[in-house]
Amino acid sequence: MKNLPTLFCGIFFALAFSFSGLILTGHIQLGGLEPSTETLVPSDDDPNVMVMEEGQTRYPLPLSGIAQQGKQVYIELGCIYCHTQQIRRPGFGADIERGWGLRQTVARDYVRQDRVLLGTMRTGPDLAHVGGRYAGDAGRDWNHLHLYNPQTVSPGSTMPPYPFLYETREIINEPSPKALDFPADSEYAPPPGYEIVPTRRAEALVEYLLSLRVDYSLPEAPIPE
Ligand code: HEC
Repeated sequence: MKNLPTLFCGIFFALAFSFSGLILTGHIQLGGLEPSTETLVPSDDDPNVMVMEEGQTRYPLPLSGIAQQGKQVYIELGCIYCHTQQIRRPGFGADIERGWGLRQTVARDYVRQDRVLLGTMRTGPDLAHVGGRYAGDAGRDWNHLHLYNPQTVSPGSTMPPYPFLYETREIINEPSPKALDFPADSEYAPPPGYEIVPTRRAEALVEYLLSLRVDYSLPEAPIPE
């Protein structure tokens, strides 16, 4: 083994090269990214350095506690196998024409996320901005009906139903205010005298879906007028 030092040098350089290519470069490019306000202004001390104005909201916003729990449910149920969370820029796909987002997503949109659920398969629509498409109480109701059985609101959908996230129970006195509000004469509605209510997991998952929205501008990705 007279070439042992050469062999070790070779191994060392191969590893050092791939480490700097894959890890160091990425870290230098993106490692310092922080949440930002919509606009950066030149600093008072050095006009070449851009800083954030005091007291402005910094985007992306952190998730609320219940939405964070919902993200866990999203991971457990494997929604990522059919849904992505990344909006491509114009010219690289029809995402914006399809109404999946107002602008492309950029690395900074993900800086607050401990687990980034970009996804690879688009069997269903992109969900990066789904909370902007179905918002507020109407969005909450739509999402519950859709998760309970996608056919209720999207006839012909290939998305699987998640009825185990809901409880079917007899109405004892008053119907629950949380009971799912089925469209009139829906074939998926419970029998008379019964109601379908979301479990805690369903509520958390829907809060997570409502929180998914890219409706703020970033310096490198403004929402076009
Ligand atoms: C087998 C693939 C598949 C899986 C798994 C799946 N979906 Fe879907 N999803 C679809 C398809 C296809 C559509 C489009 C038709 C429809 O609206 O149902 C869709 C639509 C949606 C929509 C509406 C999007 C829009 O813009 O209209 C939401 C929200 C959604 N899915 C959430 C989820 C969540 C949450 C999970 C995990 C619990 C999940 N999906 C799992 C295939 C899937």
